[in-house]
Amino acid sequence: MVRVLVITGAGVSAESGIPTFRGKDGYWRNLDPIKLATPEAFARDPELVWQWYRERRQRIRDAQPNAAHEAIARLGQRTDEFLLVTQNVDDLHERAGLAKTETVQIHGDIFVTKCSRCDFKQRDYRSSVAAANYGTAIEQEEMRGNGVPRCTKCDALLRPGVVWFGEPLPARETERVEHYLQRDSCRVVIVAGTTATFGYIIDWALRASRRGGELIEVNPEETPLSRFATRLVRKPAAVALPRIVDQMIN
Ligand code: OAD
Repeated sequence: MVRVLVITGAGVSAESGIPTFRGKDGYWRNLDPIKLATPEAFARDPELVWQWYRERRQRIRDAQPNAAHEAIARLGQRTDEFLLVTQNVDDLHERAGLAKTETVQIHGDIFVTKCSRCDFKQRDYRSSVAAANYGTAIEQEEMRGNGVPRCTKCDALLRPGVVWFGEPLPARETERVEHYLQRDSCRVVIVAGTTATFGYIIDWALRASRRGGELIEVNPEETPLSRFATRLVRKPAAVALPRIVDQMIN
C-alpha cells in the first residue's frame, strides 16, 4: 500500500510564469506584504489590495499548468492514498487534473471571494473566456476594475478567500491534513518549491515521514527542511518531478 504526501509552494508554479514570493523576482522583493497581505492593509486600502489580487487572478488565468503539476496529478491518480497540501492559491494543480478531494489549499483559493464580515462565499469562474462570457456580477465588476465589491447579503466589503499574515489557517483544511497524518504515516513525502518558512510545513513533512518514509525535497536552493530530507533534488520542479514520479509509478 503506497501512501504519499506532497507539499508544494510557489516554486512549483514558477515555471508557469507565476512569481514566487521570496525568490529573486519574488513578490516580496519589490512589494511590502504588510501593505498587501494583511487584514490591516485591507482595512486601510481595500482598493489597492483588490487591484493586486485582480492582477494575480488574471495572471493565473492566463497561465498553464507545467510538467510539475502534471506529474503530481499523475502521482495522485496512481497511488492508493494520496494528499497534496499546497500553499499555492492558484488553481494549476486542479487544472492539471488532480482531484479536489486529494488537495488541500492551506493558504486559500485566490478565485474565492468572501465576505469580510458574514459567511458569504463564492468561487468565481477561472478561465478568462468563461469569466468574459458568464462571469458573476462580482467578477464582471472586477474585470472592469471598479472599486471594491460588496456583499449582497450584508453589504460589508468582499475580500479574496486567501490567508493573510496574522490570520489563522482555515480550520477545515487544517483538519483534513491532521486527519491524513493521524491515520497513518507515509512511505514517500515530497516537498517541492517552498522555502518552508512556516513551521507547520516542516512539522507536517516530518510527521508524515516519521516511520522511515522517504522525505524528498525538490528545490534548487537549500531550505530549513533540507537537513531532514533523505533525498535532495536541486533541480527545477518541472524537471525533477516528472522523473521522480516516473520512478515511483513504474
Ligand atoms: P517562496 O517564494 O517563499 O519560496 C519559493 C521556493 O521555490 C524557494 O525556496 C525557491 O528556491 C523555490 N523555487 C524557485 N523556483 C523553483 C522551481 N522552478 N522549482 C522548484 N523550486 C523552485 O514561496 P512559498 O514557500 O510557497 O503565503 O511561500 C509560502 C507562503 O509565503 C505563500 O503561500 C504565501 C507567502 O507569503 C500566503 O500568502 C499566506
